Amino acid sequence: MKFFDKYHKLNSIDRKDLNTPLEEIRQGEVLELDNPMQVSNVKQKKFYIESYGCAMNFSDTEVVASILFADGFVNTKNVEEANLILINTCSIREKAEDRIRNRLRDFTKFKKRRKGKPVIGILGCMAERLKKDLLEQEKLVDIVCGPDAYRDLPNLIGTAESGQKAVNVLLSREETYADINPVRLDTNGVNGFVSIMRGCDNMCSFCVVPFTRGRERSRNAFSIVAEATELFESGHNEVTLLGQNVDSYKWTNPETEERVSFAILLEMTAQIHPDLRVRFSTSHPKDITDEVIYTIAKYDNVCNYIHLPAQSGSSRILELMNRTYDREWFMERVRKIRSIIPDCGLSTDIISGFCTETEEDHKETLSLLEEVQFDLAYMYYYSERPGTLAARKYKDDVTADVKKRRLREIIDTQVAQARIKNAEDVGKTFKVLVEKESKKSSEEMCGRNDQNKMVIFPKGNTKSGDFVFVKITASTSGTLMGELIDNC
Ligand code: SAH
Ligand code: SF4
Ligand code: F3S
Repeated sequence: MKFFDKYHKLNSIDRKDLNTPLEEIRQGEVLELDNPMQVSNVKQKKFYIESYGCAMNFSDTEVVASILFADGFVNTKNVEEANLILINTCSIREKAEDRIRNRLRDFTKFKKRRKGKPVIGILGCMAERLKKDLLEQEKLVDIVCGPDAYRDLPNLIGTAESGQKAVNVLLSREETYADINPVRLDTNGVNGFVSIMRGCDNMCSFCVVPFTRGRERSRNAFSIVAEATELFESGHNEVTLLGQNVDSYKWTNPETEERVSFAILLEMTAQIHPDLRVRFSTSHPKDITDEVIYTIAKYDNVCNYIHLPAQSGSSRILELMNRTYDREWFMERVRKIRSIIPDCGLSTDIISGFCTETEEDHKETLSLLEEVQFDLAYMYYYSERPGTLAARKYKDDVTADVKKRRLREIIDTQVAQARIKNAEDVGKTFKVLVEKESKKSSEEMCGRNDQNKMVIFPKGNTKSGDFVFVKITASTSGTLMGELIDNC
């Protein structure tokens, strides 16, 4: 294909077209930045940053870090010595916001008692959702900066340092931060995350993301491949391409007018090197194409794993959610995936207790879980978000008790399915990318197989970043355990 020949010219591409990857996604993680500019210099201003929410938000934190380094800041993970305290926030559910408010309280208390007062800034989705109201609600906050305004942070900080409040929550139709220089993060050095697009044009009625992240836009394909290449060359063996709806990725090369779809982008990334594992998230059931499924099947290094959020098993509820597919469509996609990639790992997201959900609807969700047998699911009860279509159109009429009871049943059903699925893996041998020591024992390591299942095995002489073969000897609902067969 013509396009692929062209991307091999990557070496001539401007390497500053790189965002910075994140090694791991953890809620409320403190970033430890391993940057050459991180010299100890008492005169340099120091920033402390905490991140919440999805992988894309964590990826944004690295963009922010990069912008701050360029502005002369250094990073600290000790909040006590920070001149600038930032929280990169998430609005997806009320509980996420509550947690962040509590953490903010810790920071404002600290600000009150400290002499040289630090500047406090709120970034990300809560900043975008609440805008300047946040300054009224949280009196000691100085900066409110939305996800498309990070280039303006140096100005906002300047304003705050002069004693005024600073807000920039402008959303953009173009911003992808494609030219931001990478900042390497010192975590496990194995998995890298690359944002391929921003925003979301779907209007799922429960979801706040279109309001907090703005319109969907796709990043320059060459800059994505360049970033993934750089990650591989710096020792990462796995990249995950990130977007709220990766299947609607589309970018047109301005020089040739050739269009790059997600399937093509996936192929371009897979061709970087056979030893670079490629993952992606999130696929939307309405948009995932056969072409994407065939591309996964075609390349050994594209992981046989798809995160395909169903949200509900009831077609009536799916319609109210404005997901634009029904249960039959979802099942057809699952069958198609499994016919092309028989061993494909599948995970999903489920919401319990959406507006008007009956016991009948709920049972359909339980039966979907049994019918599909996902390997993994992220499960939540519905949390009404102000301003969303559902908040405006429907009554949040399922009581908290019922939502929670249904969620419990959903979790129990899913755990039972995952246990069955994982037991089927006993006796099989998987190629595993070693990530780190297992939590339970320093004698054991853990890593993921192609299907994204966590596998635990004896350490032997393995280290992070190795590929090993593990024969599975036991399983639980969440983990596979096995023995090392060979280093490969
Ligand atoms: N773009 C992804 C989802 C991003 S948000 C997709 O389309 O699937 C991650 C998950 O949070 C969603 O899949 C959904 O299950 C959950 N979620 C989003 N809004 C929610 C809300 N208001 N209440 C409860 N869960 C919600
Ligand atoms: Fe939210 Fe739907 Fe967009 Fe996912 S696809 S981010 S659930 S609006
Ligand atoms: Fe949360 Fe914003 Fe991501 S709402 S899930 S941080 S896009």
